Amino acid sequence: MTVLVTGGAGFIGSNFVLDWLARHDEPVVNLDALTYAGNLGNLGSLRGDARHVFVKGDICDRALVDGLLAQHRPRALLHFAAESHVDRSIHGPGEFMRTNVTGTYTLLEAARAHLATLGDAERAAFRFVHVSTDEVYGSLTADAPAFTETHAYEPNSPYSASKAASDHLVRAWHHTYGLPVLTTNCSNNYGPYHFPEKLIPLMIVNALAGKALPVYGDGLNVRDWLYVRDHCSGIRAVLDQGRVGETYNIGGWNEKTNLEIVRTVCALLDEMRPDPAGPHARLITFVKDRPGHDRRYAIDVRKIERELGWRPAETFDSGIRKTVQWYLEHAEWVARVQSGAYRDWVAQHYGAR
Ligand code: NAD
Ligand code: DAU
Repeated sequence: MTVLVTGGAGFIGSNFVLDWLARHDEPVVNLDALTYAGNLGNLGSLRGDARHVFVKGDICDRALVDGLLAQHRPRALLHFAAESHVDRSIHGPGEFMRTNVTGTYTLLEAARAHLATLGDAERAAFRFVHVSTDEVYGSLTADAPAFTETHAYEPNSPYSASKAASDHLVRAWHHTYGLPVLTTNCSNNYGPYHFPEKLIPLMIVNALAGKALPVYGDGLNVRDWLYVRDHCSGIRAVLDQGRVGETYNIGGWNEKTNLEIVRTVCALLDEMRPDPAGPHARLITFVKDRPGHDRRYAIDVRKIERELGWRPAETFDSGIRKTVQWYLEHAEWVARVQSGAYRDWVAQHYGAR
């Protein structure tokens, strides 16, 4: 048995691959284009491990995907690959349409063709798990109930619109062609290997460097935070026990304003790495708001709790403490990301292949 993961060198994908192989020996074929967000150094501990087959390539490359499905005959395709940063989507939406929409379409078509070549048992066991986001539901007012799986799609950014489009394709390929799909819509993740363009890692690395901590607008936008390994366990639960054709929301019941997040990070750094110049919160700087900035996300996770028995292992307090600690212990990872040296990893470690 084998699974095919896309985007397994990114933040969530690499956590997923590491957790997967720590739990059992089922091999992972990892297809990743290694964009700026892909960092094979995240998977350095798997170097030489035959259970991890890394393939540098694009999910839009149909011939490549067809070849991987035919060669490895995975029992599941877990689709993480995406352009994932909202701010980048505002500056340049094109790549989001290509990877998130065309890339998902390419994978769906490749999976559909592949399924037609399988015997009954293999076809019945196959799963296509599409990893998506709560941002497809749009923005909530302060006291509106949290997003359930039946909430209308109201994406507001080019990123969330591209993910919404991909969710619709996945749904249609199930409805029309019977493709055995499952979709997850998760809230904001945080944890190890998070690229420091996103709020939490950016605040940690800037605070450590004594740089400004840029808070958009009034800092009162609300996100619902989940430790990344809890997201990974939710995806495994959906793969193992989810009902084909269903969508599952995943979240942590942890609504926080951005200011609360930044102040928590500052307080933990004050405790773990005090700055002689003063409390880290002195660096908080309010900056121009993100255009179209969604005010609030909140995820109702009762469906996955009820149907699949999934629960997060971390509270926000335990997860954020582990995260800050991880960044303090991985200064070299941060330095290589900031200098761009992480992009040499492939040449250094895979050059001979
Ligand atoms: P990321 O940006 O850290 O990683 C994306 C990975 O996909 C990178 O390794 C990149 O190299 C790869 N990739 C990009 N374009 C590709 C292409 N055309 N072909 C092959 N590989 C390509 O993203 P992430 O934060 O790990 O998010 C993973 C998935 O989870 C995404 O689908 C995202 O929408 C979803 N998601 C993320 C969050 C979050 O908080 N980060 C929350 C919910 C859902
Ligand atoms: O909700 C799930 C989504 O969470 C995922 O689908 C996305 O891939 C992921 O990037 C994340 O999107 P956000 O836009 O919520 O995450 P980001 O870390 O970019 O921003 C979190 C909040 O912090 C948001 O309200 C904007 C704000 N922010 C962000 C940055 C980078 C700041 O105030 N300052 C900053 O410098």
